Amino acid sequence: MSKKYITTPIYYVNDIPHIGHAYTTIIADSLARFYRLKGYETFFLTGTDEHGQKIEQAAAARGKNPKEYADEVSAKFRALWDEFGISYDYFIRTTDENHKLGAQKAFEVMLKKGDIYKGEYEGHYCVSCETFFTDSQLINGEACPDCGRVTTLVKEESYFFKLSAYEDKLLKWYQDVDDCVMPRAKKNEVISFVKQGLRDLSITRTSFDWGIKLPSSLGESKHVLYVWLDALINYISALGYGTDEKNIDFWPASFHLVGKDILRFHSIYWPAFLMSLNLPLPKHVAAHGWWTRNGEKMSKSKGNVVNPREVADAYGLENFRYFLLREVPFGQDGDFSQKALIDRINSDLGNELGNLLNRIIGMSGKYSNFELDSVDVIKYHKKEIDAAEAILEGAQGFMEELQTNKYLEELWKVLTLANQSIALYEPWAKIKEGKQDEALAIVALSANLLAKTAVLLSPIMPNTSDKIAKALGFTIDTDSYKKLIVGKELLPKTTLTPTEPLFPKVEKELMSSPEPVAELKSEGKKEFISVDKFFAAQIKVGTITKAEVVEKSDRLLKLSVDLGEKRARQILSGIKAYYTPEALIGTQVCVVANLKPAKIMGLESEGMILTAEDKDGLSLIRPENLKQPGAAIK
Ligand code: MSP
Repeated sequence: MSKKYITTPIYYVNDIPHIGHAYTTIIADSLARFYRLKGYETFFLTGTDEHGQKIEQAAAARGKNPKEYADEVSAKFRALWDEFGISYDYFIRTTDENHKLGAQKAFEVMLKKGDIYKGEYEGHYCVSCETFFTDSQLINGEACPDCGRVTTLVKEESYFFKLSAYEDKLLKWYQDVDDCVMPRAKKNEVISFVKQGLRDLSITRTSFDWGIKLPSSLGESKHVLYVWLDALINYISALGYGTDEKNIDFWPASFHLVGKDILRFHSIYWPAFLMSLNLPLPKHVAAHGWWTRNGEKMSKSKGNVVNPREVADAYGLENFRYFLLREVPFGQDGDFSQKALIDRINSDLGNELGNLLNRIIGMSGKYSNFELDSVDVIKYHKKEIDAAEAILEGAQGFMEELQTNKYLEELWKVLTLANQSIALYEPWAKIKEGKQDEALAIVALSANLLAKTAVLLSPIMPNTSDKIAKALGFTIDTDSYKKLIVGKELLPKTTLTPTEPLFPKVEKELMSSPEPVAELKSEGKKEFISVDKFFAAQIKVGTITKAEVVEKSDRLLKLSVDLGEKRARQILSGIKAYYTPEALIGTQVCVVANLKPAKIMGLESEGMILTAEDKDGLSLIRPENLKQPGAAIK
């Protein structure tokens, strides 16, 4: 039997799941369910990306060790996917031992092949994107071209991968395999990027150690793998590469689903690594667009990030799934607004789908005591059945091209046909005219059109489709797919079961809207300060030498902070809920050093420690690299 292998990106554990993560995961889940329905042996992989400087820093900011922190956040991703019924076959964590062995093996194979050499890396690094940049790529000589954050200058010993040697081979792949990178517009961007020339890629780091060590045979204990090499290998280590190879037959991937921001890693680095490993290339790397909220980019600081659990709780998980896949053509950016979601629920789902089921059940109850018989459908409605079969057959190609919005549009054409047939042939009039068999044929026609549609809707709305099938007296599985869709059969004689309305009308927005953005609130009366005013504050780097709790205070810690002066300062800081004293000792913070000393709970505080707070909690602001105590912050 043919196999399908579908993957999501593995998610960084520095963030809790948001709509972007849910989107990729739900598309991948729908695709995996689609192929299972069709009878393919399918392996669906998701997981978490847990190494690297970004995670190390996020853990430190919370006073946790990276593994403890990764355990916590990875469990949150997994719990959400379980709650959402995501049908993954394996949840990989890059801190898993199997993955580590797979990554080390890959390094060894590439080294043996002669694709890896040792050198020194000097250049800019964006920790947030975990990406290296050259001078010419930076904005204003310092900012990351992808996320706009300030980059750091890195100079360290490093192993390099000969990416430049794969330029021509990659271009040939893009040329030979039409839809290896999807959609086409994105593929063209990748091609022009590669045509500008590829530089060898630094694939190990030495300035921190939260990562996979190089194979011990190399005796290079200070190097850890570059987090993107580590992460990409997950797609094969999850199948047992480097260990038991248990599921390696699923390789190559049928679809790597990714967001447009990480396409470069998947369509350039990853195929080059695979060529070096002598492994076949993925069939499709498919990049989707980004979600905004009410037309605005989402960000933690704006407090407008869409929380998928909140949406599912308010509007129903399957309605949310439908919205995500129906609203945006794959590859394009999409906008989340409650209004658009409510429109979809009330109109597409409520009016066209839910009402159709109600009408069918209502009529069959009235005319035939819920008995359904397809016996006369072809006699009276061959035209409608043939039209629907043709639509449903064609629709499946859209799903295979990930054009989920078109796929759903096609399914809805069949629902429209069913609704129109009822209006056109008026079964109630036929009953009055004494044409019972004609009336029942119309009901059976609509029930068959709905049943067939429900089979193909099941990958996207599995529970809803099951409810429809239950009401119509059949079960959705590969067998019914083969009969109703491939074999174009009609429903066998059966009894219908009345059911609760599937899509109660949504009358008003059910989630509170995000707070207006801070900058927008003050718009029109912007207040500026002069640079002198800013420089009046002396902000310095300090090292915490002692930390203890302040008795009777829920908030305060008492810290001794070395600012390079004769004696350490005593500073009280309201961070007790976020940091344990032990986690702070020896770490650095930023201190406003020329504040007038103040007494708090009877204790003198000789400065203020800088922190940043949002709805996810509070973090200390720290220098990126260790600095001399007292170093000025400007
Ligand atoms: N860890 C890497 C992926 C490694 S895969 C070998 C990573 N993780 S991530 O958690 O930052 O992002 C995961 C995915 O979420 C990306 O595909 C990204 O495009 C997607 N999204 C993040 N924000 C998004 C939106 N606002 N909208 C849609 N998707 C977005 O990158």
